[in-house]
Amino acid sequence: MRELHPPEQELRAAYTFIQNSPFPSIPDVVNKIAEEFSRPEPDLSRLIGLINSDIALAGLVLKSINSAGYGYENIESVQQAVVLLGLNKVKNLVMASYVRHYLPTRSLFAKRIWEDSTEVANLAVRIAAELFDVPLDEAYIAGLMLDCGAIFVAERMLEKYDAVYQMRYERPISINRIEDYRIGVNHSAIGYLFARHWRLPERVCLAIYLHHGTSCEKIDDAPLRSLLAVVKLADYLVMKVHTGIELDHSMEQIQHIARLKGELMIDSNELAHLEQMLN
Ligand SMILES: [Fe+2]
Repeated sequence: MRELHPPEQELRAAYTFIQNSPFPSIPDVVNKIAEEFSRPEPDLSRLIGLINSDIALAGLVLKSINSAGYGYENIESVQQAVVLLGLNKVKNLVMASYVRHYLPTRSLFAKRIWEDSTEVANLAVRIAAELFDVPLDEAYIAGLMLDCGAIFVAERMLEKYDAVYQMRYERPISINRIEDYRIGVNHSAIGYLFARHWRLPERVCLAIYLHHGTSCEKIDDAPLRSLLAVVKLADYLVMKVHTGIELDHSMEQIQHIARLKGELMIDSNELAHLEQMLN
């Protein structure tokens, strides 16, 4: 079985990076919400009270829930969302709203990443809803967070990283190795640490770490394999459509897409249909 977690050397590089450029600290209210969610039986009224304690953030939570592809568009309160969807389905959407709000979005680079990530998250939800047994909220938050590590690296390295990051268009599968070689750390490992820092579910953390890996098939954990295939396909399609760059048709890339299609049991027509959703 494939080792799913980052190897020691990669983790050490990521920790060193974080020591020099620490993540933003988690606001107290988010810590309390994450803590409550992690209990075997969360106290619902306490949770709702915590979420509603910041009206602006409660609004963001509702916005996420209403646009997350569950088929509801007029949910007006966190209470209503919990009743209609259940706590489990709301949990990751709540955390996604907070992450989105507290992560840096000032630079042009960060804005670009967030725009693409929002598209990836929305498409991942649609793929999960149509094709696969992946919880929609998990697909959403994993899609949204896939490249969050890149924002932290970019904040520190500025133009130097921008140039490296563009290389993902040319060789998307091996971008992490290019980053390791050029800047000594990669955005998947940084994203993994950040997701753990925010106490996101382990499966989401691993999907973030593994999203540039070449293959899902060696992963024994079926829910992780499914989640990973969904977000990798969404990531690939958004990159292809948004950049307008015709990706190279190297054997490596053809095999990569064939594996994803096999994993999701979709054919070329369905792949084209998903691509059209972005146009
Ligand atoms: Fe990435």
